[in-house]
Parts: sequence; structure tokens; C-alpha cells
Amino acid sequence: MGFALTASPLSRDQTVYAYHERTKHHYHRMARSSGYMDWANQPDPFRRYAGATSVSLPLSWSDPDLDYHALFSMDIPAPAPLSKGTVAAFLELSLGLSAWKAIGRDRWALRINPSSGNLHPTEAYLLLTQVEGLADGLYHYGPEKHVLEKRRALTRKHAGALAAHFEGPGFLVALSSVIWREAWKYGERAFRYCQHDIGHALAALGFSARLQGWCLRSLPGVDEKDLAHLLGFDDTAWHPQEEETPEVLVRVAPPTANTSAPALPEGFVQAVAAQSVQGQPNQLSPACRRWEAIHDVLAATCQEKSAAAPDHLPTAPAAPGKPMGPSAAAVIRQRRSAVAFDPRGRMKRGDFFRMIARTYAFADCPPLDIGLGAPQISLLLFVHQVTDLAAGLYMFIRRPSHREALQAACDPAFRWQQAAEDLPIFLLQKGDYRATAAELACRQEIAGSSIFSLAMLAAFRKPLENSPWRYRRLFWEAGQIGQVLYLEAEARGYRGTGIGCYFDDPVHDLIGISDNSWQDLYHFTVGRPIEDPRLQTFPPYAHLKRAPSGS
Ligand SMILES: Cc1cc2nc3c(=O)[nH]c(=O)nc-3n(C[C@H](O)[C@H](O)[C@H](O)COP(=O)(O)O)c2cc1C
Repeated sequence: MGFALTASPLSRDQTVYAYHERTKHHYHRMARSSGYMDWANQPDPFRRYAGATSVSLPLSWSDPDLDYHALFSMDIPAPAPLSKGTVAAFLELSLGLSAWKAIGRDRWALRINPSSGNLHPTEAYLLLTQVEGLADGLYHYGPEKHVLEKRRALTRKHAGALAAHFEGPGFLVALSSVIWREAWKYGERAFRYCQHDIGHALAALGFSARLQGWCLRSLPGVDEKDLAHLLGFDDTAWHPQEEETPEVLVRVAPPTANTSAPALPEGFVQAVAAQSVQGQPNQLSPACRRWEAIHDVLAATCQEKSAAAPDHLPTAPAAPGKPMGPSAAAVIRQRRSAVAFDPRGRMKRGDFFRMIARTYAFADCPPLDIGLGAPQISLLLFVHQVTDLAAGLYMFIRRPSHREALQAACDPAFRWQQAAEDLPIFLLQKGDYRATAAELACRQEIAGSSIFSLAMLAAFRKPLENSPWRYRRLFWEAGQIGQVLYLEAEARGYRGTGIGCYFDDPVHDLIGISDNSWQDLYHFTVGRPIEDPRLQTFPPYAHLKRAPSGS
């Protein structure tokens, strides 16, 4: 393998393959970044629009009463009515703050959704119509103050047309990336992390929607230009290099028989774009650096109008009896990344299998049911400390056709011995992989001192051929899987951490993959956490002194 970006124009597919190659970490050379922490230019993690009307959202007094395991069942709770209170709760439990942490004088916010380096490049916008207590319009969500900032009004005519078109209550959510927030620390590899974070945020939105009895569906027929128009990005005076990249548009609504959302009505984007945009974006850093390779890959992976793809996901097996677990909202609120593990931590074999099975994509089960295409990722597992299961290297197949393809691509010496009766999980090789897993994860101990860790292997070259926009979606799927594992770990008394720093090709070498038919896109590790006693924790919204609402 080995592509390089040159001055000669490459095709969009080649640009993606070239970007992926040049942003790999190698034992002898990390992907290009500034190589030091430029503290003077550390980006503000919160976007604010000065001059936009700010609407304070109520904080939840009590969370929806849903069992954690019901998040994954086909049994959807009765949909909550659309109101300021329910939209506020939906945002609070997906993209809101989860806590403040402090050591000495340093203090920083954590959020319900995780983010590489806690830099939070993902921003969210809502297009609301006919929501009780909120005027129709386009809003930016500000998690720091739990507010909606109104960026655009919507005429009654257009709001009515949208509501009539979708035949029922619902609203739109768009996500964007401030690439600079990640590029500040991670340089050229930052595009990957931004896409992981979109996946985590989509999953967080999907779980929170389920708490309200709503579902997420991606909207077909919207390309990146349309989305930029809709969000007013081309009419916004961004500070240099701080512009936001539109990523994805979903509809949030009670479930319908139709599993995919219809496209936006003809002419709607133009009609919204004709309304003026309110608010000046805050400056995030005094100075920013432009990373050309990122701009190339952004252009090459631009979403096209024709990109809708039906998923045809299987239906989830019925859960035996009523689920009995912790509260879903409590698990969502307590999710954190582990920073250290007790290497003696163990997990029962049944729990391990149930946890891994949760990453499977099922129709009408969040978070992988939103219509972004069939699953492309299977999991390479480093099993360290699971009771009654031999330590070693395993493969969990998330799409039936991956079994044969991966077996053909991987080392022929692997055993492919089925490890569970009812699950496509296969032992490849027995052994103690603790040191290897840590070494491959940029020498991070948490990948080896865990109960298990894993690498997400994506079908790569083929799905991207003639569809380079899918590159972003591969990372979204990886992020969605990561979010499932974060919650699963919390719900079962463990803790997880997403790992974006890993040595790409050494992972491929370990399993005998020597081309880009499959690529490792993300790592994750789960274990028994050890808390850092120096860290102080404070509640997420004590600084607001705002009365919670009952809804
Ligand atoms: C895409 C992604 C990559 C990450 N990579 C690493 C990593 O390589 N090492 C690590 O210790 N934590 C990693 N994390 C965890 C973040 O540091 C963590 O999410 C962030 O500090 C916020 O903390 P919280 O998850 O407890 O809210 C990653 C998280 C994400 C979402």
C-alpha cells in the first residue's frame, strides 16, 4: 500500500484512499500534526451566535422511565407530544453536558456524547415546526447554557408545507463538524475523528429519541450544498478556518410503518435559504492552521443527492420476558471514558457475548437503524479476561457476507472456530494479546489492562469505489458501534473508552491483511475502571441556576 497526494488531480476515490494512507499512524511515524500543543490557540469548545435570539430550554426534573434494555427492543414506548419540554429533554440527554470535572485550577465540561480529546467538533441544528412553546425556525443548540439560538425564521406557509409533507409531528436535526477543533490537536488525522464523533452523536440522538418514543431517520435527496443552504452556512461570516462542514440531516419523529423518511419537499431548501440568517459566530481560536489534505478529503467525500441506500436490516429477536435493568437515562447520564483499568477485572462469558451482540444492526432498534446503508464493519476482538472463554483473538461478524470475505482475506492459519452457539463469533487464535493490543493502540495501557478490546474492521476498497462519500459513513458506523459499547459497559457495571489512536497497518499485518480491501477504523476497550482520586466532579448545569421542568 502507499498512495501520496500529488499536485496531479486524483479521482475522488483515489483522493480518499490517499488521505487514508497518509493519515495512518506508523510505529516510526505518526500522522502529520503540528507536533506540539499550541495552548494559545486552543479552540473554544462551544459555538455561540452573538445577536441571535436565545431561547432558554428547561432542564429535566425527572427522566423518562425506561429500562436500559428496552432501548434495544422493538417495543417502542408511546411517543411523547412535541413540545419545548420534550425537545429540551431530547437534547439534554443526547448532546447536553453530563458533568464538570476539575483538577486544581483546571476545569472542563463533559458531555453525554464523547469526543476525541474532549474537543467536541460536532454542532447540532434543529428545524422546528409546530412544536408547542417554540416558534417555527432553524435553531442552533448550545449545550453549555442549554439554549436554542434562532438562526432563521420560517414563514407560516413553509412551516405548514413541511408539516403537511411529512404527514405527522416531527422535526429535523442536522449535524455539522468544526474540523478545526480536532485539527488543532490532531492535524491531518482530524477529519477521521470528526467523523467518529458524528457517529457517536447520531447514536446519542437515537437513544435519546427512543426515551421519548421517537425514531431517527436519515433524509435522502439532500446533498452537502443543499444542507449548507438550509443551515445558512453560505450566508455566515465564519472566522478563517473555523467554518462548519455540513454532515448529515435526520428526521426525528414517532415511528411510522415506513422505515425511511421521505425527501424534503421540492423547493423547500431554496425557500428557507431566502430567509435571512441571524447571529455572528464566535471566534474559536486567535489563529488557525489550514490542513490541505483535510480540505481535499472533504471535497472528495461530499454527500451526493443520489446517496440514499435501503438497509434491509434483520428484525431483532424478541427478548425473553420483560427487560430488567438499570434506568436507560441513568446509564446515558453516567457514561464516561475510563482512563485506567484494574487488570484483574473479569467479565462472565454470557455478559461478554450479550454485549458484543448488542452491536448488531437491527431494524427499528437504535442506533444503527437510521437508514445510512448496510453494515460494513465487523469486529476483531482481543479477549483478555473473560471467564470460561480462552484468551485470544476473535472475530465477530456483523454482516453475514463478511464471514467468507474476511476468512479469505485473513491469515489462512486462523482457526475460525465458532465460540458461541447462537452468535457469529469465531476464535481465530488462542493467546495472551494484552501486550499486543496495548502496543497497537499507540501503546495505550487501557487496551491491554482491560477485559477485552477490539478493532473495527471495515470493508473498505469496494464500498468506496465510485461512492467516495461513503468514507464518512464508515466512521459514522464505527462511532455508532462505539456508543453502543460505551452504554453497554456502563449498564453492566464496567466502563469503556473509544480509541482513535492506533497503528493502522500493524493491525492489518497481525491478521494477514496486506491490501486495502479491509481497514481498521477505530478501537474500543472495556474493563473494570480505576477512578482518578485527584478528579473532582460537579453537576452539569449548576451554573445555570435554572428551574428544571417536569416534562
Ligand atoms: C473518536 C474518539 C477517539 C478517542 N480516542 C481516545 C484515545 O485514543 N485514548 C483515550 O484515552 N481516549 C480516547 N477517547 C476518549 C475521549 O478522550 C473522551 O471521550 C473525552 O475525553 C470526553 O470524556 P468522556 O467520554 O468521559 O465524556 C476517544 C473518544 C472518541 C469519541
